Amino acid sequence: MTNETTQNASASSNTDVKIIGDLEFPKRKVWIKTYGCQMNYHDTERMLSHLNELNFSHTETKEDADLLIYNTCAIRDLANQKFYSHLGNAKHDKKEREVKVAAAGCIAQTESKELLKKYPQLDFAFGTDVIDNVGDLVYRAYAGDKKFSVTSWDRSDNYSIETKITHGSPQAFVNIIKGCDKFCSYCIVPFTRGREKSRSITEIVNDVARMCEHQGIQEVTLLGQNVNSFGKKNGESLAELIMELEKIDKLKLIRYTTSHPYDISDELIAVHGKSKKLANHLHLPVQSGSNSVLQRMLRQYSIEHYLERLARLREANPDIVISTDIIAGFPNETEEEHRDTLKLLDAAQYDFIYSYNYSSRPGTKAARMKDILTKDIRGRRLREIQQYQLDIQEKIRQEMEGKTYRVLVEGKSTMKGVTKWKGRTSCYRIVHIESDENLQWNWVDVKVTSSTALSSQGEIVQVLGRNF
Ligand code: 5AD
Ligand code: SF4
Repeated sequence: MTNETTQNASASSNTDVKIIGDLEFPKRKVWIKTYGCQMNYHDTERMLSHLNELNFSHTETKEDADLLIYNTCAIRDLANQKFYSHLGNAKHDKKEREVKVAAAGCIAQTESKELLKKYPQLDFAFGTDVIDNVGDLVYRAYAGDKKFSVTSWDRSDNYSIETKITHGSPQAFVNIIKGCDKFCSYCIVPFTRGREKSRSITEIVNDVARMCEHQGIQEVTLLGQNVNSFGKKNGESLAELIMELEKIDKLKLIRYTTSHPYDISDELIAVHGKSKKLANHLHLPVQSGSNSVLQRMLRQYSIEHYLERLARLREANPDIVISTDIIAGFPNETEEEHRDTLKLLDAAQYDFIYSYNYSSRPGTKAARMKDILTKDIRGRRLREIQQYQLDIQEKIRQEMEGKTYRVLVEGKSTMKGVTKWKGRTSCYRIVHIESDENLQWNWVDVKVTSSTALSSQGEIVQVLGRNF
């Protein structure tokens, strides 16, 4: 799930000058560039909230900012290259005005020393496990500390935080587990995010209840690299957490991401059947349709196991839709192994997929494999996977026509010069709705009038309002 933008959230600063410790903090502005996954976007939001206490407000205009933070992603080489090029440009900002520049997140976690050496414009760098210390680090920078990095790990099996929200929407991301113990052979995440650590159910339930009561939250997405491992080290489980969250009156919809097929338990599948608030959608990354590739990826499951889990989920909740992640061109993938992935697309009937070319990540097991595949072969296989899925998706989405879905309206979108409202169903599909009413953050029942692989149109059946 990758996209890239500066954070939309805004934090408001309070006083003209704040005295903190030995320093004066006048009103200043921070600009944060976020790369990568929802976890990073969430971390950015946390940073904005902490920096608000140091009198920083958020700006989306880099030229206005006193502090530039790059919240980096290391999952594929492309993300790295983009960051290096953007950081290169920060040289001009540094020349033109008094500005501090920091690198945070996954690349900073593993490469902070090299970055500080190579880029004179970089003042400091910090890793993924000290995001909540951003206030102390910025204080150090303004106190005159130069060229420092902090990439320490919290080594415990659990952790404790309060979710920070700096936006006014009814949707919130809630971190429930961080890190990953899986060590899939292609993946850098266990090196950049560390070992799995969970929050407690009690803390999360109190946190969500508070946000629903005082901040108007109605939908939560429980976040983690492998949320299915949630609570394992503390004798708790994701299934239990969902059933506890379900009891919060004002909470209407619960999502979670991202999952590992090995850890989808029977108990969790049963919750998909009985929960009234869990979304009709599950993102279940498969990565490849070939058992031999899955073995080389160290994924710990077979395609047979994966399809059995899908069948059980669909039995528990016939309305559930499934999406996935696929990597095209894992080292030495044969044509036959590639064709197995196309066959899997037929068997699994995904609602949508995120697909990527394999990218070698230094330090991972796959990076040490001798690889005979060329860039052209990888590119061609990725295109084949995407086209094959689009044809399947087109048919699946056409079945929406004539059916009514409850959507939460998230905003407006303009296509071919026509502006419509854009709402998301419980099964995570976007539906476009024509209406002159202000529907922002309203729940609306919508009948789908037409649907292609990528976009659906609907007409209003009834507007339920912001709270119903
Ligand atoms: N190359 C390509 N894709 C990768 N992903 C993770 N590591 C790599 C890599 N080295 C993909 C996986 C994962 C998603 C978040 O990113 O599909 O599920
Ligand atoms: Fe990476 Fe595998 Fe962990 Fe997912 S489960 S974050 S792919 S190591």
